[in-house]
Amino acid sequence: MTLTVSANGAEIPAIGFGTWRLRDDVCRHMVEVALDAGYRHIDTAAAYENEVAVGDALKNHVTPRDDIFVTTKVWYDQLREGDFQRSAEESLKRLGLDQVDLLLIHWPSPDIPFDEQIRSLCKAKKQGLARHVGVSNFTAPLLEAAMRHADEPLVANQVEHHPYLDQRVVHAACRKHGLAMTDYAPIARGSVLEEKVVMEIAEEKDRTPAQVVLRWHVQQEGVIAIPRSSNAERVRENIDIEDFALTPEEMGRISGLARPDGREVDPDWAPQWDEAA
Ligand SMILES: NC(=O)c1ccc[n+]([C@@H]2O[C@H](COP(=O)([O-])OP(=O)(O)OC[C@H]3O[C@@H](n4cnc5c(N)ncnc54)[C@H](OP(=O)(O)O)[C@@H]3O)[C@@H](O)[C@H]2O)c1
Repeated sequence: MTLTVSANGAEIPAIGFGTWRLRDDVCRHMVEVALDAGYRHIDTAAAYENEVAVGDALKNHVTPRDDIFVTTKVWYDQLREGDFQRSAEESLKRLGLDQVDLLLIHWPSPDIPFDEQIRSLCKAKKQGLARHVGVSNFTAPLLEAAMRHADEPLVANQVEHHPYLDQRVVHAACRKHGLAMTDYAPIARGSVLEEKVVMEIAEEKDRTPAQVVLRWHVQQEGVIAIPRSSNAERVRENIDIEDFALTPEEMGRISGLARPDGREVDPDWAPQWDEAA
C-alpha cells in the first residue's frame, strides 16, 4: 500500500490491518498474511490481548521494523499518570518493541481528570514510548479540549466510521487540527457489503463490495481505514484498492446510506456522541 496520510508529522499508511478478536496463532498468522499482502500498518491494543502474537509476527517477518507502522492503545482505566506509563511499557514488552509508532488513549475516561489523561499521553511520547500519540473515540468537543491540554502533537483520532454512520462533525474537527481520522469497523462488520448501492457500484467497477467501501474511506481527506479479517483472501482483497477510484457521485451515493441508528459500538463508558451534521 503506497497511499498514506500525513498528519502533524506522522506518515500513516491509509489502510491498516485491524486485529480485534484475533488471538494467538490465528492472530500471528493473519498479521503475517497481512504483511505479505503489503500492509504496513497494524492496529492492536492492550485490551485485545493479542500483542504477543502481533509482536511475534512482526519479529518473524522479513519486512524491516521501521517500514511498519504499529499502533497500540491504553485502556480507559489506565489513564492516570504512572498507570499510563506502566500500561504502555507492558505493551512494548509484549510486542517486543522499543517504541510503537502510535499510542492512543483507547477511550476517554469519565472518571479521571481530563487534563491528567492528556498529560499522561503526552508524557508517554516525551519518554520515548511512542513516536506519535493520539486518541480514540473522542468526539469533536473532546478533541477540542484535548488540543487545549496537549503539549505534543496529536496525530490521529480513531473512531467508528462506515457508510451507515455520519461522522462529518468529528471529521471536520480532525481536519481543523491536522489529525488523521482512523476509521474502525470500516465495513460495519460486513453488513454494509450487502447494500444494493454498494453492490451496484462494485459490479460496474468489477471490484468487490468491500473494496468499494474501503475506497470510499480513503478518498475522504485525511482518512485511514483499518479493516480486520481472519480470511487470507479477504485480507488481500481489502488492501487491493489503489488502482480504481470512485466518482463524486458514487461517493455521495454511498454516504447516502447514513442513518440515525447507524452506530454499532456504544458501550456504557462511551462519551456523549456528536450529532450527525
Ligand atoms: N478504537 C476502538 O475502540 C475500536 C473499536 C472497534 C474496532 N477497532 C479496530 O478496528 C478494526 C476493524 O474493526 P472491526 O474488526 O470491528 O470491524 P470490520 O473491519 O468493519 O469488520 C470485520 C468483519 O468483516 C468481515 N470482513 C472483512 N473483510 C471482508 C471482506 N472483504 N468481505 C466480506 N467480509 C469481510 C470479517 O469477517 P472474516 O474474518 O470472516 O473475514 C469480520 O467479521 C478492529 O479489528 C480493531 O483493530 C477499534
